[in-house]
Amino acid sequence: MIAIGVDIGGTFIKVGLVNEKGKVIDRGKIETIKDNPKTCLENVSKVILELIKKNKVKVSGVGIGMPGLLNNGTLIESSNLKPWLGTNIASVINKNTHIKVAISNDANVAALGEATFGAAKSANNVILLTLGTGIGGGIIINKKIYDGNKGQGAELGHVVISLDGEKCGCGRNGCLETFASARALIRQAIKEMELNKKSYMWKLVDNNLDNVDASTPFKAEKHSDKSAKKVIDNYVKYLSQGILNYCNIFRPEIVLLSGGVALQKANLTNKVNKYLKDHYYGLKGAEKVIVKTSTLGYDTGVIGAACLILLK
Ligand code: BGC
Repeated sequence: MIAIGVDIGGTFIKVGLVNEKGKVIDRGKIETIKDNPKTCLENVSKVILELIKKNKVKVSGVGIGMPGLLNNGTLIESSNLKPWLGTNIASVINKNTHIKVAISNDANVAALGEATFGAAKSANNVILLTLGTGIGGGIIINKKIYDGNKGQGAELGHVVISLDGEKCGCGRNGCLETFASARALIRQAIKEMELNKKSYMWKLVDNNLDNVDASTPFKAEKHSDKSAKKVIDNYVKYLSQGILNYCNIFRPEIVLLSGGVALQKANLTNKVNKYLKDHYYGLKGAEKVIVKTSTLGYDTGVIGAACLILLK
């Protein structure tokens, strides 16, 4: 069986042809057109049809992971794709491609992918955080994805870490998303670069702030750049405090990180695990939680979305 997985992100949309073993056979990637869902979904549909034609395969359906709250395929709330509100993504893609479509929250499908083919396969209780444009959360309790009321999942990025924090796209102030998403990391890096024109981060981006991405401070830190270290220490502190909150609610065995920032792998998790070791409630005697990056890595979202079809 082969399915299409579509991972809709705030910046890019990834599309993949996924087989029943959870392997991506071929893939495509396009930019997200934030202010024009119709054209953007037409582009997605074209990529889907091209992949099918190019690989001469028959697919069983299209699975989509979508950031935000959904109700029967319609986006009803979103922090980063407001112009898409009210769009029935599933039915638009179905109309364009004439292929069966299933859709769910992007972090929930990422958790489904990791539980089926990745790092959560052998664990019972897992929290997955996607660290991209926003922060999403998937919760696995006793091997089952927690769906929430009417499949609305959980919104772990919109948990307030500091009441005096910056305004979040969801309308509240100081959500974890405003401190620990890839976008927040980039914003903090730019702020520090502006304060320190000698930071190595400037060299890495050819003196162009548009080139700053989530890897910039991590790369600069390896060159003993003090500004980069400050950005990362601050980032790790807030991300870890968020994780500690989830640990106190769910006591998971592992916390999985996926999305752009998680591509830093051990560079990130070593620091987070150290922070947790020093601050975990029940340090002495309690089962420890381990923070890891998702094993499906770059493909977590696409494979997870395809699982909506493959597991039916
Ligand atoms: C949205 C979530 C989504 C996450 C990651 C958040 O802003 O509210 O639904 O899972 O971003 O894309």
